[in-house]
Amino acid sequence: MSDAKPDNFQVANLFSLAGKTALVTGGSSGLGLMMAQGLLQNGVRVVIASRRQEKCDQALAELKDYGEVHAVAADVTKAEDREKLLSAIEEKFGALSILINNAGANWGAPLEEFPDEGFAKVVDINLNAVFSLSRDAVPLLEKAASESDPARIINIGSMDGIHVPIVSRVPTFAYVASKAGLHHLTKAMAVELAAKHITVNAVAPGFFESRMTDYVFEHYLQDIEDDCPLQRIGQPEEIVGIVAYLASRAGAYTNGTVIPVDGGTSISKGKRDWMD
Ligand SMILES: NC(=O)c1ccc[n+]([C@@H]2O[C@H](COP(=O)([O-])OP(=O)(O)OC[C@H]3O[C@@H](n4cnc5c(N)ncnc54)[C@H](OP(=O)(O)O)[C@@H]3O)[C@@H](O)[C@H]2O)c1
Repeated sequence: MSDAKPDNFQVANLFSLAGKTALVTGGSSGLGLMMAQGLLQNGVRVVIASRRQEKCDQALAELKDYGEVHAVAADVTKAEDREKLLSAIEEKFGALSILINNAGANWGAPLEEFPDEGFAKVVDINLNAVFSLSRDAVPLLEKAASESDPARIINIGSMDGIHVPIVSRVPTFAYVASKAGLHHLTKAMAVELAAKHITVNAVAPGFFESRMTDYVFEHYLQDIEDDCPLQRIGQPEEIVGIVAYLASRAGAYTNGTVIPVDGGTSISKGKRDWMD
């Protein structure tokens, strides 16, 4: 951002990410892998984290040609792993410009059979761990932050935290509640951290291809497309694009927002009747 000028509105400058550093949790697959590649291709040094070493290694092999990337096997729900992760970032980068809280999980079961441990597990990953990691990352984020170029926390929420999913053949009570909570946590932390020059925003994706959506795509792809005003699922560049905006000079004044990237699904009841 050293060449950023207030009167330079060229997209290449306005959306430049060059020289920044980022952590992408859950960066070994799906949306996390897409975002990590997008950041690397734009000159960001990236650490990805996910639980399994083998998946980290696989992702590293896919990403290494795009730029400087490191992987740390860490479970974001465990305090000792979060500490290990942040120490590794401090050692490699000394500061952190962008934290993307993307690691997430889902659990589907009918109401009567929905287990307490399944509910707790989903809330622990999707909500509790985001709070703990963000809190603990503040000192590293502050080191990269300035008034004109704040550090950024970007939480990956979900359109299902905005609406109750229409495609709910398999109910996901914990997921929808955790994502709605994450959206509101985003706003509370945005207000708190603004004084430290750290912005906090959430992206609320609709359906994108990933391991998490394998099952629903196999069984309900037509319903998903019918429920989306644009009649399709999201593409990788559409998630990378919103993250580039939020992390760049263009997004520096955007704070405490929840941005749906869902083709309009969360504000539509789809082509089908409300109850079928
Ligand atoms: N795909 C969609 O359509 C969609 C829509 C809306 C929102 N989202 C959100 O996007 C995010 C990414 O999901 P995805 O669809 O890309 O799913 P995915 O392919 O299953 O990726 C999830 C990632 O999180 C990691 N992970 C899971 N638990 C973790 C933990 N405790 N600690 C560290 N890493 C962990 C996984 O790796 P390990 O198994 O190795 O830990 C994996 O890298 C989630 O927050 C999800 O809710 C996705």
